[in-house]
Amino acid sequence: MQARGNWSSKFGFVMAAAGSAIGLGNIWKFPYVAGQNGGGGFLLIYLAIVATVGFSVLMAELVIGRSTQRNPVGALKRLQKGKLWPLIGYAGILTAFVILSYYVVVAGWTLAYIFKSAAGLLATADDAALGGMFTSFISDPLEPVLWAGAFTALTVFVVVGGVNKGLERSSRWLMPMLLALVVVLCVRSLTLPGAGAGWDFFVTPDWSKVTFQTVIEALGQAFFSLSLGMGTIITYGSYISRDTDVVESGFTVVTLDTLIAVMAGVMIIPAVFAFGMNPAAGPGLTFITLPHVFAEMQGGVVFGPLFFILLAIAALTSAVSLLEVVTAYFVDELGWKRRTCTIWAGVVAFLLCIPSSLSLGVWSDATLFGKGFLDIMDFLATNLMLPIGGMAISLFVGWVVPKEMMEEFCTGNPKLGGLAKVWLFFVRIVSPLAIFVVLLNGLPFVAPYLPWN
Ligand code: PHE
Repeated sequence: MQARGNWSSKFGFVMAAAGSAIGLGNIWKFPYVAGQNGGGGFLLIYLAIVATVGFSVLMAELVIGRSTQRNPVGALKRLQKGKLWPLIGYAGILTAFVILSYYVVVAGWTLAYIFKSAAGLLATADDAALGGMFTSFISDPLEPVLWAGAFTALTVFVVVGGVNKGLERSSRWLMPMLLALVVVLCVRSLTLPGAGAGWDFFVTPDWSKVTFQTVIEALGQAFFSLSLGMGTIITYGSYISRDTDVVESGFTVVTLDTLIAVMAGVMIIPAVFAFGMNPAAGPGLTFITLPHVFAEMQGGVVFGPLFFILLAIAALTSAVSLLEVVTAYFVDELGWKRRTCTIWAGVVAFLLCIPSSLSLGVWSDATLFGKGFLDIMDFLATNLMLPIGGMAISLFVGWVVPKEMMEEFCTGNPKLGGLAKVWLFFVRIVSPLAIFVVLLNGLPFVAPYLPWN
C-alpha cells in the first residue's frame, strides 16, 4: 500500500475543505437563486437547512472519511463487508464526472471573462449588447471549449501535485485571498447609491413569496454548495489525522461556506437594485448583469476583472475536489500512479465537457425532455445523484454503523457525547426524510402528483 498524505495542519484541512465547498455554487448560483426565490425568506430557510440537514450530512461524511482513512469506495468496503453500500462510493465517482462535465464549462466562461473584462470588451451599460456578447460567446463551437480545456488542465495540474503539495498549498493562499476580495466587493456594492433597497430585499423575509418550492430550492442549493452527497467530504476527511477535533473542523467549514454565500448575495443583490435591474434574472446575472454593474461604477475597470478572477479561483478549488475523488479511488484501490490516473480522468472530463458546451450552441436542437446535454447533466447531478448519495450516506451512518461513527464523532473531543446523540437522530431520521422530499420534488414525472403541488 502506498503511504497516504495527510493535511499538515487543521488549518490546512479546513481551508482545503472550504475551498471545495466554496465555488460557483456560492458565488454564481446562490445570489441568483436567492433573487429568484424572493430574497429574505429564502435566505432564512437556507440558513436553517444548512445548520441542520447540511451540517449533519457533512459530519457523516467527515467521520466516515477520517475513521477509515480511505477513498469513498474503500471506506465503505472497510466499514461493511456487504456488496451494496460501497455502491455509494462508485456512484460518487460517476457523479464527480457528471458534475465536472459542466462545471468546467461554466468555470471556463469565468476564465474568458477575466480577459474580456480586463481588455475592456465588456465596458458597456447596454444590457442588450452584453446579453448578445454573452450568448454569442457561449454558443461559439470552439472558444468556450478551449477555455474549458484550459480550466481542466489547471485542475489536473493542481491534483497531480498531491494532497500536501497541490491541494493544501494552493488552498492556503487562495482561500484567504478570495475572502479579502469578496469583502472589498461587498463594501463597493453596499456603498452604491440606491443599494439599500437591495439590502432590504435580501435580508427582510417576504413570506408571501415563500412556498414549499422555496424550501426545496434551498435544500438542493445547500447540498450542492456544501459539496455533499458524492464522497468529496469523505475523501477530504480521509486526510485528517486522528487527533483532530472533527466536529470543530466541520463546523468551521459549514460556517465559511455559508458566510461566502451570504456575502456573495451582499456583493451582488444591492448592486443589482442600485442599477434598477431584475434580481430574478437567473443564471445570466453574473455574466450579463454584473458587467453592466461594473461598467457604471467607479473603479469598475479594476473590480470587473477582480471579480472574475475570484470566481475562477473559487471554481478551481471546487473542481480540484471533484477530480480528487476520482484520483483517490484509482490510487488507493487500484494502485495507479497519481499522475497517470489524474491525467486520464482529466482527459475524460474534457471529452465529456464538449457536448455540454456545444449543447448551448450548434447542438442546441439535440434535446431530451426539452433539455440540452448540459441541463441534463446538471439535472442528473443536482436533482438525482447528490440527494440519493446524501440520503444513502446518512442512512448508512445512522443505521448500519451508528456505534462506531458515534465514537469517531467524539474522537479528539470526548465532551461531545450529548451532541453526538442529537446528530445521530438527524442522520437516522430527519435528514434522510428531508432529502427524500427533495428527491420527489426534483423528479418532474412524480412532482405533479404530490398532494402539495
Ligand atoms: N460545492 C461546489 C460549489 O459550490 C460544487 C461541488 C459540488 C464540489 C459537489 C464538489 C462536490 O461550487
